[in-house]
Amino acid sequence: MKKYTNIKDLKNLSKVIDEAIQLKKNPFQFETLGKHKTLVMLFFNSSLRTRLSTEKAARNLGMHVMILNVNDAWNLEFENGTIMNLKTSEHIKDAAQVISQYADVIAVRAFPTLIDKEKDENELVINSFLKYASVPILNMESSTRHPLQGLTDAITIVEHTKVEKPKVVLSWTPHIKALPHAVGNSFIETMQKMDVEFVITNPEGYNLNPEITKNTSIIHNQSAALKDADFVYAKNWSSYEEYGKVINQDSNWMITKEKLGSAKFMHCLPVRRNVVVEDAVLDSDNSLVIEQANNRTFAAQIVLKKIIENL
Ligand code: CP
Repeated sequence: MKKYTNIKDLKNLSKVIDEAIQLKKNPFQFETLGKHKTLVMLFFNSSLRTRLSTEKAARNLGMHVMILNVNDAWNLEFENGTIMNLKTSEHIKDAAQVISQYADVIAVRAFPTLIDKEKDENELVINSFLKYASVPILNMESSTRHPLQGLTDAITIVEHTKVEKPKVVLSWTPHIKALPHAVGNSFIETMQKMDVEFVITNPEGYNLNPEITKNTSIIHNQSAALKDADFVYAKNWSSYEEYGKVINQDSNWMITKEKLGSAKFMHCLPVRRNVVVEDAVLDSDNSLVIEQANNRTFAAQIVLKKIIENL
């Protein structure tokens, strides 16, 4: 695999899920595959799970890991032809080529502005690395996609599926801040590739990008959507239509134990307790959130394995 910036980069999702589950049983079976290979991880934004699980995955494969919080480096310029006499000190064109001298794989986390829809949808940061770096690029959450999380969620659903075709519901939940669309988008694209009955539920005004939701059913009545669900995936996102705005904080959309019933509960974390979901759900046996966090390692490891096998 030459890059992993979207779940669509995986040609056979179900095979990759099976391989990740096998890897989980023996994480060190390829511990020399990455010998003398270096993963450079660049963080434009905060992270707990992605940072630790991706480093762990790389180390399980025998790779070296270097991490740079980009705010500690020079301010990067992304526009071409700019007269750089203001705040930016180094052009991405130079930086990406330089980092490629030290890295065999470059992993990037760069969130959206949530102000400039066109800029966010153009994926300026990750696409600049794809354009100027000479090594494969791994997306650790970009403006519009979080494909390592999507793969993680697919692995977790397969591990916990007890019926032939489970019903999976992605439910918008309240939040005090404007959050990106990346987790929701990648979860939708992942479920569209799986053999599940998939439904999205969100308030009016919160439909995600129609090019991504496509033919997936969107129901604005949460309790109708949740009926007979096997998996409930909670996630907040800011409005796509009124781009980046918080237009609803209705606490009636919070996931409660009563709403969940016997379904399994999923969330990518971090989660605001008793805003997005009540304690009684997170602290119950129905919650898969810690298993999801564990599976982040094996999602990253199978993706890194496929990338370094093709170096
Ligand atoms: N789920 C997730 O990406 O977590 P972090 O933001 O902590 O990396």
